[in-house]
Amino acid sequence: MSRKAINWNELTKDSVAMRFWNQNVQQLWFPEDYNPANDKATWDLMDSNQKDVYKKALIKLTHLDTEQFGQGMPLLVLHTKNQHIASVFSYMQMMEAVHAKSYSNIFQSLITDSQEERDLYAWQESNQNLQGIAEIVVGMYHKLFDPKPSKKDLYLAMVASVFLESFLFYSGFFYPLYLAGNGKMINSAEIIWAIIRDESIHGVLVGLEAQNVYEELTYKEKQEVDVEVYELLNELYTHEAEFTKEVYEQVSLVDEVMEFVRYNANKALSNLGRPVFFENVKVNPIILNGIDTETKNHDFFSAKGNGYIRSTNLVSIGDSDFARLEALLGRSVV
Ligand SMILES: [Fe+2]
Ligand SMILES: [Fe+2]
Repeated sequence: MSRKAINWNELTKDSVAMRFWNQNVQQLWFPEDYNPANDKATWDLMDSNQKDVYKKALIKLTHLDTEQFGQGMPLLVLHTKNQHIASVFSYMQMMEAVHAKSYSNIFQSLITDSQEERDLYAWQESNQNLQGIAEIVVGMYHKLFDPKPSKKDLYLAMVASVFLESFLFYSGFFYPLYLAGNGKMINSAEIIWAIIRDESIHGVLVGLEAQNVYEELTYKEKQEVDVEVYELLNELYTHEAEFTKEVYEQVSLVDEVMEFVRYNANKALSNLGRPVFFENVKVNPIILNGIDTETKNHDFFSAKGNGYIRSTNLVSIGDSDFARLEALLGRSVV
């Protein structure tokens, strides 16, 4: 069998791969574009519980992005037959490394004591919920070390990836969004907003690709994964609930964070073309504004000027883009 070089010129500009390539490129950013050190004065006024929650939220995010650039995306790239989609996944992998580094930039700005930083990393390595979440997700990725994995394993690895992108990150994002909605830690929040913009398109694209793989499963395999997806959701949700209680109780936000966790679990399922699982989810409007990626370039939190966005042509994917994508594909994507 001959091996084919990628040819982007065979795509129309409306193709899914071209749209997601262009969107990713328009969103390009680097941690060095931002200056979280401007938050140091606010940080110094926060009490020890608030600082503890913030650091633990961000170390969780660092850990998930580390697994995503190091394990998840490279293995998905290897087994994605569509070369253009694989190419977009490669770009996304690079951005996961950017995300992971950006948290170190925030820590460097806020944590002046190197022992404090070592303690935080030691906590991450010994925390049963963080380790448990990573073991589950990475375990599903590692099925793809097989040169010819089953379609079912490929589908479930993509489901794990969508859960990471669209669900597991959000108990980490909650606190920076909550503080920013209250006018605190705005410079660091600009990094968080940039990451959320990226993760939202990552979850949609991997979800679309997962739906394509699902269509190739046999009837029996479909029945099996229809159960396994919810078993996976349940396992991860249990860890999320424990992590949230452990970290957020000290600032009395456990219930609010769990609403947000359920909201994003539903979002992840939607990205996989599945119905919502959690009913009557009510998320704090401040947080919903924080994840609305369309508002961030309109000075919603009066942060404009403090930060700097590299791209002069930044167009976030928003509901209207999803509607166009849905029209193109003839099915729901969110
Ligand atoms: Fe990421
Ligand atoms: Fe991502």
